[in-house]
Amino acid sequence: MKLYFWITGAGNGIGRELTRELISNGYSVFATSRTAEKLYTLQDELADFASQLVTGVCDVAKPESVDTALVEFYKTGDRQITSLINNAGITSFRSATDDSWNEIQAIIQTNLLGAVYCINKILPAMIAGGEGSIINILSVVCKKVFTKSSIYSASKAGLEAYANVLREEVRKKNIHVLNVYPGATITGIWPDSVVEAHGSKMMTAADVAKAIMQVLINRQTAYCEELILRPVTGDL
Ligand SMILES: NC(=O)c1ccc[n+]([C@@H]2O[C@H](COP(=O)([O-])OP(=O)(O)OC[C@H]3O[C@@H](n4cnc5c(N)ncnc54)[C@H](OP(=O)(O)O)[C@@H]3O)[C@@H](O)[C@H]2O)c1
Repeated sequence: MKLYFWITGAGNGIGRELTRELISNGYSVFATSRTAEKLYTLQDELADFASQLVTGVCDVAKPESVDTALVEFYKTGDRQITSLINNAGITSFRSATDDSWNEIQAIIQTNLLGAVYCINKILPAMIAGGEGSIINILSVVCKKVFTKSSIYSASKAGLEAYANVLREEVRKKNIHVLNVYPGATITGIWPDSVVEAHGSKMMTAADVAKAIMQVLINRQTAYCEELILRPVTGDL
């Protein structure tokens, strides 16, 4: 069996850098995203490591899309997912009264329910196999109040609470649950105006990916449960 990390939302930003980082450290990755074109670009960039990369279109907000992506992934019969990185995420940068009901539902469906659905799909196989890791890309919004992020904060805090309970339920089954709380990181999630004004103070997606890689390298001896990452000069 070939063992894989499954990274959701791997088409750009932190997910793409995590894919590159894991692959360059010798791991194999199942990289999924909603947009096929982004995955083609990733395949081109990582053409020298083609044997370590499997891609798949997958909208985590739609259970049927997750199911289809996993059926395709498992089709060859020689692949196993031993780590899931719940990275796919969206936000609105609008105040609570300005968020539409559609936006609210999309954020919860993607960031919270989508992640929980992916966990539910792969956890039984991890338990049966006797090992696994679940890594949730949360945010410093779980640690500090930021305005114009009410429903985003609710989605991340919901997944944090879920993961904290799950960790204790699966700890003795050799499943590692890590919550990652990045601060401001330059990616497409931010409006261009914010990156133009504050980009020099923000972390890069590669910074975040490398820090997570360090935790993975050390996990044989140290069980890191929370990783909080902030720009050197603090929050924006
Ligand atoms: N950047 C920051 O400052 C920061 C700070 C803290 C936490 N985070 C978290 O880090 C994670 C990655 O975000 P990012 O900053 O790298 O933003 P990004 O560049 O916008 O990347 C987000 C990724 O998620 C994918 N995605 C969005 N909705 C999806 C869905 N329903 N199903 C599957 N994939 C979906 C997007 O690609 P497609 O549109 O192709 O699917 C994209 O690849 C998010 O969970 C975000 O909340 C970011």
